[in-house]
Amino acid sequence: MKLPVKMTINGQTYSQDVEPRLLLVHYIRENAGLTGTHVGCDTSQCGACTISMNGQAVKSCTLFAVQADGASITTIEGLARNGDLHPIQQGFWEKHGLQCGFCTPGMIMAAQQLLERYPRPTEEQIRHQLEGNLCRCTGYHNIVKAIQWAAEQMAGK
Ligand code: FES
Ligand code: FES
Repeated sequence: MKLPVKMTINGQTYSQDVEPRLLLVHYIRENAGLTGTHVGCDTSQCGACTISMNGQAVKSCTLFAVQADGASITTIEGLARNGDLHPIQQGFWEKHGLQCGFCTPGMIMAAQQLLERYPRPTEEQIRHQLEGNLCRCTGYHNIVKAIQWAAEQMAGK
């Protein structure tokens, strides 16, 4: 049995019938073809699958696609505007906030919510807010610097 779901992803409407057990992350990657959202674990711990759903950062592997029926979703592909990187994306570039890069989309989506809550975050606040996102290779130092850089840019606008 399939169920109809309709949602907006990065401003585009997607409408399909899906298996009720289909996870939102698989819907985004396979049905919508947006592979910037990664799957890093099967235990809801790594945060690589983080997206914004109705303005909230959520782990898309913890939801079924049918639970997102009617939702407005933004993925990493939806952040750049007219070819310009989002300040958080630019911050990861400027401060080299990555090594393998696998965790980066989820980090950036989590950082977006972080900067909404704390426009001028302390290092402690950044580290605390990113606890749900695991990066296995950088030690977080440059990720913190990237988010601080983005906060400065966004505050200056
Ligand atoms: S894939 Fe969702 S938390 Fe790891
Ligand atoms: S940059 Fe490699 S896991 Fe984060």
